[in-house]
Amino acid sequence: MCGIVGVVGNTNATDILIQGLEKLEYRGYDSAGIFVLGGTENHLVKAVGRIAELSAKTAGVEGTTGIGHTRWATHGKPTEDNAHPHRSETGRFVLVHNGVIENYLEIKEEYLAGHHFKGQTDTEIAVHLIGKFAEEDGLSVLEAFKKALHIIRGSYAFALIDSENPDVIYVAKNKSPLLIGLGEGYNMVCSDAMAMIRETNQYMEIHDQELVIVKADSVEVQDYDGNRRERVSYTAELDLSDIGKGTYPYYMLKEIDEQPTVMRKLIQAYTDEAGQVVVDPAIIKAVQDADRIYILAAGTSYHAGFASKKMLEELTDTPVELGISSEWGYGMPLLSKKPLFIFISQSGETADSRQVLVKANEMGIPSLTVTNVPGSTLSREANHTMLLHAGPEIAVASTKAYTAQIAALAFLAKAVGEANGNEKAKAFDLVHELSIVAQSIESTLSEKETIDAKVRDLLETTRNAFYIGRGQDYYVAMEASLKLKEISYIQCEGFAAGELKHGTIALIEEGTPVLALLSDPVLANHTRGNIQEVAARGAKVLTIAEENVAKDTDDIVLTTVHPYLSPISMVVPTQLVAYFATLHRGLDVDKPRNLAKSVTVE
Ligand code: M6R
Repeated sequence: MCGIVGVVGNTNATDILIQGLEKLEYRGYDSAGIFVLGGTENHLVKAVGRIAELSAKTAGVEGTTGIGHTRWATHGKPTEDNAHPHRSETGRFVLVHNGVIENYLEIKEEYLAGHHFKGQTDTEIAVHLIGKFAEEDGLSVLEAFKKALHIIRGSYAFALIDSENPDVIYVAKNKSPLLIGLGEGYNMVCSDAMAMIRETNQYMEIHDQELVIVKADSVEVQDYDGNRRERVSYTAELDLSDIGKGTYPYYMLKEIDEQPTVMRKLIQAYTDEAGQVVVDPAIIKAVQDADRIYILAAGTSYHAGFASKKMLEELTDTPVELGISSEWGYGMPLLSKKPLFIFISQSGETADSRQVLVKANEMGIPSLTVTNVPGSTLSREANHTMLLHAGPEIAVASTKAYTAQIAALAFLAKAVGEANGNEKAKAFDLVHELSIVAQSIESTLSEKETIDAKVRDLLETTRNAFYIGRGQDYYVAMEASLKLKEISYIQCEGFAAGELKHGTIALIEEGTPVLALLSDPVLANHTRGNIQEVAARGAKVLTIAEENVAKDTDDIVLTTVHPYLSPISMVVPTQLVAYFATLHRGLDVDKPRNLAKSVTVE
């Protein structure tokens, strides 16, 4: 949430900042701004709305050093006054910030009497505090920044500029992501390597509660007491082409289409030359040692946990419990004696999940992160990591990460089960079954026009809708409804089909869209009974069924896949339903209102 980019010592500073912000726009897009210096004058430019609005205001803005920010509002409305960068009382210090400062009101009251603030943000208070220590109390910039860091509580990634000195950017972080990018003759800072991949693939990590002095030809890492810390750089394995849209109108459609390829990449990543499933033995042991698996996640990743629960339980013989990260961060339930925490997170940066991981580490609970982003915070701080190999996911609506998460957990379940001699695991030919899944997805993707036509009729104008299903289909219904509501703004509930009659069926009226998911031969007929019940009350029903349970009247029919993997293939038509519904309603598919891709605030 919120994206930061900074550059020091490059004559193209403005272009680098704008291009970086475009790449970071998925982290927040209600307003943006840059501060550039080192030319004939200093420039502070801000705009409400998308980066394109900001870019249009930057003609003639030149310099060698600058910082930029794309905002997802936490404190104060999306206005130019609240947009970053923010300036100190005299205007000398300029700051961008990602995160939430918990004690900003106390700081204002205790230290900043008589100061004038333009907006309502916590960030403005932080830069005033630094300015006060430097200008009113006579500290050096470094000392003033450190003193402020000792006082500020909360989550932050800061990039600070002293407008009297274009040779340096000061940065610090706590709980919010920030990286240093190493260029040739210049250096950069950013929230995400993707923002700088055009310039460099050499990066340096910053740990929590570290301060970094970034100059064109040097990078010095310190703790808040001034002790130097050594840090080596690493090469990011990102490809510029991975982060482009190509010929696609939206990232979401590109990412939906990539899913068969992702399934095949996962097969490559988790099998050896003989086609045997290979998972890090230390991870297998961690599962074997556990008496219960706790899956912690948010949003779509949480739903992927549900979709994997039955498979994990049956193949590893270990009970699986699910937790919503934001609920567990501050209230851990009674745990089993030998818990293993599995964090599922596309970004690996979700603050709610990290909050739980920090607690788990304090309690000595072993942990595994299943993530798409190597080197992400949740990956670094957990004991083990399994990667999704899905390539960057940029659309706010998560698609390929969900299917990759279930597939990655299938490799884990299979590997542990085999190691334990579990008969079901031995009989589960995962590589073959995933290849069938990839083909099933391909065949669904070839039906886009049909899905598009059905969706227009059903969802173009409705205010609400339901997805229903039983068993695994219920879990997919939860994900399908999140996808539909987050981008089309249709209020949608994912419901256990049999539960409707216990109250919620009261909401069904003439024309209410109900989308039913049917994949399980034992449960499908029961769900069909529930379909009759809603149809009798006027619902417009669309059915999505696997071939083994399909009837001639079903609207979308999918190739049958292994029951453990059916959530992977069943979710794909629902992703397309959400995509086309959003297009028909004239909305921005990739950047829905009020959201950001990477949720780095609690
Ligand atoms: O990066 P994470 O997987 O931890 O993100 C968790 C959720 O914020 C995320 O899945 C969110 O629900 C998606 N926008 C849904 O499409």
